[in-house]
Amino acid sequence: MCGIVGYVGCKEAQPILVNCLKRLEYRGYDSCGLAFLGDGLQVYKDVVRIGELEKILPPNGGRVGIGHTRWATHGRPSKVNAHPHVDCRGEIAVVHNGIISNFLALRERLVSEGHHFFSETDTEVLPHLIEKYYRGNLEEAVRRALQDVEGSYAVAVIHRNSGELIAARHESPLLIGLGDGEKFLASDAPALVDYSDRVVYLEDGDLVVMHGEGLKISNQGREVVRKEHHLEWTAKNVGKAGYEHFMLKEIHEQPGVIEEMVGESVSTIEPSVNLEVFIDRTVDGILLLACGTSYYAAMVGQQVLEEIARLPVRVELASEFSYSRTVVGRTLAIAISQSGETADTNRALKKARDLGCRTMAITNVRDSTVTRIAEQSFYTKAGPEIGVAATKSFTAQLIAFYLIALSLAEVDAGTFRHMTQELRLLPSKVQRVLDSEKVIAGHGRRLSGYESVFYVGRGISYPMALEGALKIKEIAYIHAEGYAAGELKHGPFALLREKFPVVALTLRDDTYEAMLSNIKEIKARESPVLALAEEGDQEIAKYVDYVLPLPQTDRLFAPVVISVALQLLAYFAARSRGCPIDTPRNLAKSVTVE
Ligand code: G6P
Repeated sequence: MCGIVGYVGCKEAQPILVNCLKRLEYRGYDSCGLAFLGDGLQVYKDVVRIGELEKILPPNGGRVGIGHTRWATHGRPSKVNAHPHVDCRGEIAVVHNGIISNFLALRERLVSEGHHFFSETDTEVLPHLIEKYYRGNLEEAVRRALQDVEGSYAVAVIHRNSGELIAARHESPLLIGLGDGEKFLASDAPALVDYSDRVVYLEDGDLVVMHGEGLKISNQGREVVRKEHHLEWTAKNVGKAGYEHFMLKEIHEQPGVIEEMVGESVSTIEPSVNLEVFIDRTVDGILLLACGTSYYAAMVGQQVLEEIARLPVRVELASEFSYSRTVVGRTLAIAISQSGETADTNRALKKARDLGCRTMAITNVRDSTVTRIAEQSFYTKAGPEIGVAATKSFTAQLIAFYLIALSLAEVDAGTFRHMTQELRLLPSKVQRVLDSEKVIAGHGRRLSGYESVFYVGRGISYPMALEGALKIKEIAYIHAEGYAAGELKHGPFALLREKFPVVALTLRDDTYEAMLSNIKEIKARESPVLALAEEGDQEIAKYVDYVLPLPQTDRLFAPVVISVALQLLAYFAARSRGCPIDTPRNLAKSVTVE
């Protein structure tokens, strides 16, 4: 969602904050802004990317500052709606992430008390509330103001008469980077990698007073100490490493990610899978909760868990589960979220917990909000993912499901051995897909000339059709829909014609014959068909226009190989169209509002 940064210390704040914000731009990027304490309070903001704002910033010697990159919720992207927001006198500046749900009532009250508002945002009530309560002590004023606020927030506040930075969190992440004679603030870790690897994660209700030399954290008026952590992510793994886009780099990192995850859990001596989490197999069933790409990973996870672990599994869109749904029997609820910050997913997991479910999270981010809700967390090892479209974090989620299912396996020893072997072969198979990048680029370029495309699959390929369609939609702006291939004739067929291509996922499993029938039906309506098919499949070429051969893989594990090909297809379609691949319009990496 939005990104927040802050600095107090002995150096000039401006270049540091600009750099930190650049690292966070993937959180939201429709506008940005900065405020410094130098010669009074200075605020700069606009509907531009941080690189452009940087060009027009005058030199500023201030050693205290805050910054923000925005993903609009309340109020369209505009200069006036951009953060930081200030009070009537222009003495207090605030950046905020989250939603203040009672802002309308607060705003009306403040207006009746003589405050003037300029923006449409919920955030603007904060500087006015702080102004109202300020009696020379900023910490006290912020504490008092937050007592009036309902909703979620991570906030950072500075005042022209105070050399300190005040920050607070409630249901929105915030961490502090520790340096010598300086302190940093950020809504997520990649912002800090150039400056500090010693971090403190704030808890809900924490209020922090930061100086260059000191740090005071309090919760409900009492001083508390929060543990210092070592930040594992470094500047090296949040850079582009010579690739044109983060997305391409992250696609190429997948063999390494899979190898690391499998290597850590699958024993090479005897075929067994050992995990850091403990899953009670005596539950009556598993409930998977997720949004977006993570939901498609969960759809694959459902089939994998049912088939390997022989447990009944239900998958729900987290945003729907929160409304009038319930659970029956002893259930393990698993939230799947690469960021761990998706508000809908976190709310759904809380609901499952309140309904008496055991809870677990599958996430890529340590100490993220979902890990505080869940009883235990399975960490995927994808490393930082900066491209907004999920790629390596998605395949890491698939690997998590294979590992969990195998740790609960109800299959004979031969099948178990075969499956662990398939897992170990995945990195080299994914590498072979990457090696065929030039061929996939050609297909991507061809697709880029169309305005609409269907992706179809059956069985375990069906969620991949959904994921393939989402990927090309979000980064190439091509209208795409994923369908279970059998459903196409129940309506969508009306759209098929020469200018409406179909990408068909055709595995040589029990769905093959039915897929061939569907493909023939599609071809009879003149749609061009690109089939992603197994190497050695001689048959398929007779029925389709183009074939993209993929390494043969056991059916259950094929989604990993297919997804990498679909990522590249979307990537090259987007590149041909000149789209801003890492930062697609209107999107953000994690969506911390419902
Ligand atoms: C956003 C991202 C998607 C992601 C979805 C769920 O929409 O742009 O890539 O799939 O959120 O995110 P999560 O962090 O919960 O997996």
